[in-house]
Amino acid sequence: MGKSIRYGMVGGHLNAFIGDVHRKAINFDPRAEFVSGCFSSNAEKNLETGEVYCLDQDRVYADYLEMAEKESSRPDGIDFVSIVTPNATHYQIAKAFLEKGIHVVCEKPLCFTIEEAEELVALSKEKDLLFAVTYTYTGYTMSKVIKEMIAQGKIGNIIAVNGEYLQEWLIDELSTEAKGKQDLSVWRKDPKLSGISNCVGDIGTHIENYVHYVTGLEIKRVAATMNTFGHPLDLNANILVEYENNINGAYWCSQVAAGKLNGLAIRIYGDEGSIEWEQHYPDYAKYTPKGQPTQIISRGQSYLGDGAATQSRLPSGHPEGLFVGFANIYRNYISALIKKKNGEKLADDDLDFPSVTDGLNGVRFVHAVIDSGKNDSAWRHVR
Ligand SMILES: NC(=O)c1ccc[n+]([C@@H]2O[C@H](COP(=O)([O-])OP(=O)(O)OC[C@H]3O[C@@H](n4cnc5c(N)ncnc54)[C@H](O)[C@@H]3O)[C@@H](O)[C@H]2O)c1
Repeated sequence: MGKSIRYGMVGGHLNAFIGDVHRKAINFDPRAEFVSGCFSSNAEKNLETGEVYCLDQDRVYADYLEMAEKESSRPDGIDFVSIVTPNATHYQIAKAFLEKGIHVVCEKPLCFTIEEAEELVALSKEKDLLFAVTYTYTGYTMSKVIKEMIAQGKIGNIIAVNGEYLQEWLIDELSTEAKGKQDLSVWRKDPKLSGISNCVGDIGTHIENYVHYVTGLEIKRVAATMNTFGHPLDLNANILVEYENNINGAYWCSQVAAGKLNGLAIRIYGDEGSIEWEQHYPDYAKYTPKGQPTQIISRGQSYLGDGAATQSRLPSGHPEGLFVGFANIYRNYISALIKKKNGEKLADDDLDFPSVTDGLNGVRFVHAVIDSGKNDSAWRHVR
């Protein structure tokens, strides 16, 4: 029996970063067949990728518009498309597939402007299509455990939040030589491809989405300092956050922090305890009940009960990580899609994947932070 769901991809040629991670993650639960793509605007790279994946040549398209048109008119056309191109193209590509009735998974940040994001939210609703935005870290098993523990009141009422996402890979941009050059060889540094932000859009939005996922807190307003170090876009930002219920938080994102590789760390403090998680140690969290020693808790352990911890892919002690984070997002998304195709009604539990509304919130966050950073750290409302 063939697989019940078919998918295609836009972006993600063989040497691209995240497309390959998406393909591998989808295969963790082999329910979706990879049948089509438009992997690059470079014809050679596009065809080469299709060949490696043994795709039918007729279904490797020179551009995404042709792909949306042709796939939507085939009886065996794709059910969903994964969009893994640079930020500048997300809006047009997502819109093209939604208009043809094809479900969408899109990389973050969702798009450039708040208006575009609102349009994508409205269009997916109008067409009744499932739209996921891959904020990866909410897919990690421990993130689900932390969300569950906070909902169970293990740390009491939340009183403060602290989040950081630190990398060092652009530290050479700080050199005097680099400052004079305005080198835009990396698309993330180029406003035409990245949008109004580099660092905040690329990694700051992960903090914003992660905190919302595990706590349910909604950001009301932000005040930020932002550092471009003489380059067109931000490489570092410090952000004060005020949530709807007068709780405060502080986020720091940086691509120039020496010694930090992919350092996403989230600390949530409540009046009964605290919980901390670090991406570098994804299978563990530090839990401190008030007045007691800190406990290192692990997914897949019976002391966590039969809830989120049981969603582990591997026994505890065997590291999961980025691939599993993506795989869990796809597991839930594809399960929801199968239910939808079978005419079943989706419950809230079926929708445990980051949505297009999360994508819209991310775009609002980026705009508010950058606007604040450019205006002497004035408070800016996110909604
Ligand atoms: N969720 C995460 O953790 C995560 C991690 C990395 C990247 N991303 C996001 O994924 C997206 C891609 O990032 P990347 O690092 O993989 O970039 P990349 O430069 O490695 O890959 C981009 C791919 O898109 C292709 N492409 C560009 N324009 C195209 C078009 N018009 N039609 C078809 N293909 C086209 C390129 O040829 C390439 O294959 C970005 O939006 C980025 O923010 C998310």
